[in-house]
Amino acid sequence: MYAYSQTSGNDVFYGVMPALDRYVDKKYFVINRIVWVYDSSGVQPKSKFGSLYEPILMITHSASTDYTFNYQDIMVEAKTGAERKLIDYRKTPPQPYNAMKIPGNVWEFNRVRYKMNEYENHPSQKPEALLERILLTSSNKNEIVLDPFSGSFTTSAVAIRLGRKAVGIDINPDYYEIGLRRTGIALQNGGKLLYQDKSRKTRNKSKSDHYSNFDQMELNSIADDSAR
Ligand SMILES: C[S@@+](CC[C@H](N)C(=O)[O-])C[C@H]1O[C@@H](n2cnc3c(N)ncnc32)[C@H](O)[C@@H]1O
Repeated sequence: MYAYSQTSGNDVFYGVMPALDRYVDKKYFVINRIVWVYDSSGVQPKSKFGSLYEPILMITHSASTDYTFNYQDIMVEAKTGAERKLIDYRKTPPQPYNAMKIPGNVWEFNRVRYKMNEYENHPSQKPEALLERILLTSSNKNEIVLDPFSGSFTTSAVAIRLGRKAVGIDINPDYYEIGLRRTGIALQNGGKLLYQDKSRKTRNKSKSDHYSNFDQMELNSIADDSAR
């Protein structure tokens, strides 16, 4: 089982996540506290440090519960900092150290950005790469993956792509429709065509907002001239 904050970065620090962690710690067994870190091109506060991570809890029912951990499917490059391959002299004959390792508990994945193909119109969409690591590690092909707070249905979409079965739930009918399309179940719902809504989540201005119609005409004519 995995649990992560459903809210913004600040809540992670001050409220929701510590409370969830304490609650879960009493009732279940926490195997790992994982930190998902990301960069941000977004507006950061000027009076404090910006929030650039989200915690994830990896949980089983109890310390003796068996669980799936397919570490061989999620190996990453071991960065030793050395330019030459380090040699393991404990072995006979000596051999280069294994260049791959199991990831640590700090995971770096970009947040989903407007320009990315996977972008959906949901305020807290998780990246597919993050869910891919979780699902490859903790599930096997043909097993059922449940996400009861599916949002943009990233979990279900990735689960299906990886050959798992998926059950996804969301209270919001708009998000349910994203789920229908993203999982390939349906491309329409009650006669309504389901398409990928690429509306921006932010009201920040983009490049095109800085061009007046006049500027745009100028740019078009420069482009025309250079094409001649
Ligand atoms: C943080 S989002 C999940 C984002 C998701 N992981 C993704 O990649 O898009 C949480 C979702 O839970 C849904 N939700 C909130 N309360 C719910 C409830 N009682 N039952 C089902 N869904 C709920 C919200 O509509 C929201 O889309």
